[in-house]
Amino acid sequence: MRILAIETSCDETSMSLVDFKKSPKETIFVYSHLTASQAQLHAQYGGVFPAIAKLEHVKACVPLMRSVFLESKNAFKKEDWINIKDIDTKSETIKEILNRDPNLANDLIEFIKNNDFPKIDAIAVTYGPGLEIALWVGITFAKSLGYLLNVPVIGINHMSGHLISGILTDDSLQKEIELKETPNNALSLLVSGGHTEIIQIENGQHKLMGETLDDAVGEAYDKVARLMDLTYPGGPKISKLAETARQQNVAPIDLPRPMLHSGDYNFSYSGLKTAVMYHLRKFPIQNENDKLALALGFENAAIEVLVKKTKKALSQTGANTLLLGGGVAANMHLQNELGKICKDLNVELLMPLKSLTGDNALMIALAANEKIKTTGLIDESSVLKATGVINIA
Ligand code: KG4
Ligand code: ZN
Repeated sequence: MRILAIETSCDETSMSLVDFKKSPKETIFVYSHLTASQAQLHAQYGGVFPAIAKLEHVKACVPLMRSVFLESKNAFKKEDWINIKDIDTKSETIKEILNRDPNLANDLIEFIKNNDFPKIDAIAVTYGPGLEIALWVGITFAKSLGYLLNVPVIGINHMSGHLISGILTDDSLQKEIELKETPNNALSLLVSGGHTEIIQIENGQHKLMGETLDDAVGEAYDKVARLMDLTYPGGPKISKLAETARQQNVAPIDLPRPMLHSGDYNFSYSGLKTAVMYHLRKFPIQNENDKLALALGFENAAIEVLVKKTKKALSQTGANTLLLGGGVAANMHLQNELGKICKDLNVELLMPLKSLTGDNALMIALAANEKIKTTGLIDESSVLKATGVINIA
């Protein structure tokens, strides 16, 4: 089953063209997987600026699709390319579907006039959670393509993408890759800029065991980074400083471990950020050592709570697999500490490849494949809308 997957929930425009095969083993063939990141643009605002994010998605959609098709070209047979006819009559509908973004409609119409499309079976697109105006760009673009190619459009939850990303253990392009079996008795730790969740997965059912009551862990990294005058996204920068601090045996600043003993699986990260703020008021950073000590103190506190609660949840549920997902999954300290508890508990740890920790369309394709396995291929074009939206000022 050939799927074109589209992700535009935040500040990355991403598209993947893939083919899933079921037998004899379940495999994925990635024709192309490309992501245009806007992170640099948002850095000057200290976080994602929604109106700019939307504009960048609008600009990126057609060029990115063109690049994905170009990269896929050699792997497709000549007869697998189709030319869309009657463009003049179809243009009206495209303009209607993309009425919020006339420029995108024009870009797409121009593209169709001059290019062929690869034959695909479905389009998968992120419907949420994410920034509303950013999500709509992907959704309406997907609907237009669904209409033009006459294929079903299916909506995918962004977090389902992060959750499943660990089943891909090789991200080579244009190569048949065997997928890990979808775990049936598992736990998922989802850690991103918007979410911190522990989810139990049993017989295809997902149960939320705990989540953050305020800030997400990635958000805490970003906010603390801002307090330390580091640019967005702050997570990788703080974790690099903390890593250096560990190597140099710098003593960490002692910070609270919020909700470590709360007796449930919920988290709270806004207090930790406030503790950093108070610390900085009393002890402003004066040298490199101060910076290293604070980054290490913050990271140790933030990760310890995640790891200890995950360990408890693994023991309680008897899960035999841990699926880690989300942007913060790139954090080496988190990966190492989870590696230790999984070894102790004899649990298989499935972590996303580096290319799949951040927001990307390949994880949306993987989640689409899972969805199709349970519900079949159902066209959702007429009902699809941005859901679970986060509107930030
Ligand atoms: O999943 P993601 O790309 O976007 C959302 O869906 O939110 O996650 C982005 C978050 C940001 O907060 C970023 O600072 C954080 O992931 N992040 C990290 C690291 N790399 C990215 N946090 C800690 N350590 C990292 N190495
Ligand atoms: Zn994400």
